[in-house]
Amino acid sequence: PDNLRELSQKTKVFIGSAVDVTALADESDYRRTLNREFTHITAENAMKWESVEPERGRFTWEGADAVVRNAMRNDQKVRGHTLVWHNQIPAWLTAGVADGSIDAAELRGILRDHIFKEVGRYRGKIRAWDVVNEVVDDEGNMRQTIWLEKLGPGYIADAFRWAHQADPHAKLYINDYNIEWNAAKIATTLNIVKDLKAKRVPIHGVGFQGHLGIQYDYPADFPSVMKQFTDLGLEAAITEADVRMVLPVTPEKLATQADYYKRMLTTCADNRRCVEFTVWGYTDRHSWVPGWFTGEGAACVFDENLAPKPAYNALLTVR
Ligand code: G3I
Repeated sequence: PDNLRELSQKTKVFIGSAVDVTALADESDYRRTLNREFTHITAENAMKWESVEPERGRFTWEGADAVVRNAMRNDQKVRGHTLVWHNQIPAWLTAGVADGSIDAAELRGILRDHIFKEVGRYRGKIRAWDVVNEVVDDEGNMRQTIWLEKLGPGYIADAFRWAHQADPHAKLYINDYNIEWNAAKIATTLNIVKDLKAKRVPIHGVGFQGHLGIQYDYPADFPSVMKQFTDLGLEAAITEADVRMVLPVTPEKLATQADYYKRMLTTCADNRRCVEFTVWGYTDRHSWVPGWFTGEGAACVFDENLAPKPAYNALLTVR
């Protein structure tokens, strides 16, 4: 294969990228490379609740619409990200819960309306939704969030049922980070899935975010972890892959990064139920990493100038 789109056809794995809506609108080279290389798209921020309803009842769908429109035009599937999360919730909602002006019953109705509205708007256009994101903490407990605190653990089943009613054909996912390797988190997440399935809640997939760094050992158990989930009948996706490094960049670090990327895609390609490998931004020009990890960066498969890095070439050699 000469590019990732061809690789996607060969491996039968959708190969995706998160999209920065500002860059999509303003940078023609960014847009061109995105549409040439990728068969799947996730909005990096534009579908999150604070982006689509910044004030109560005032909806701003422009960014999300632009991502979906671009995908339709370029034969790309779309991952909806994300319906229920503890971050990037609108300020009006956080404040209303904090000052008690929104009580638990109203909060439940607000969440229901949000899911019906957003999933309904894109009905038929979203291949898979991240229904719940990061609901387990790193100790393996249910994450303490306004959702758990005010609605109890049943909010997860409710969210999946509402999303399924709003778009019966979308694949509905639980998505998290560190479940490539964190045993406590993996065990709890598996239990959530088993419990939902026992209750016949419509859950169809598990998303492994895949945020790695070369200063840590590669999570060698990832293939068997993925299999534990897919053996439950779920499909799988790697939803936010990136491989950061402590700067400066060196050829050795780029080689290690390339190996980590290749192993992640190989894990997906080797599991018959893993259908999507999405990177969390494809270019070092637009990446969340430098803003979050001081002194780290260069986590993507293309550099700032959209030149392919060793990681890109390594991906092309998968199978
Ligand atoms: O939109 C404002 C802009 O108006 C303002 O000028 C600017 C100044 O800081 O901030 C902008 O908002 C930023 C937003 O990204 C859009 O760029 C926020 O500060 C920033 O916190 C936000 O970060 C995003 C982060 O989620 C927030 O939790 C990252 O871009 C995004 O990559 C990241 O993505 C998450 C996934 O959704 C879930 N998994 C982990 C992943 C990485 O953290």
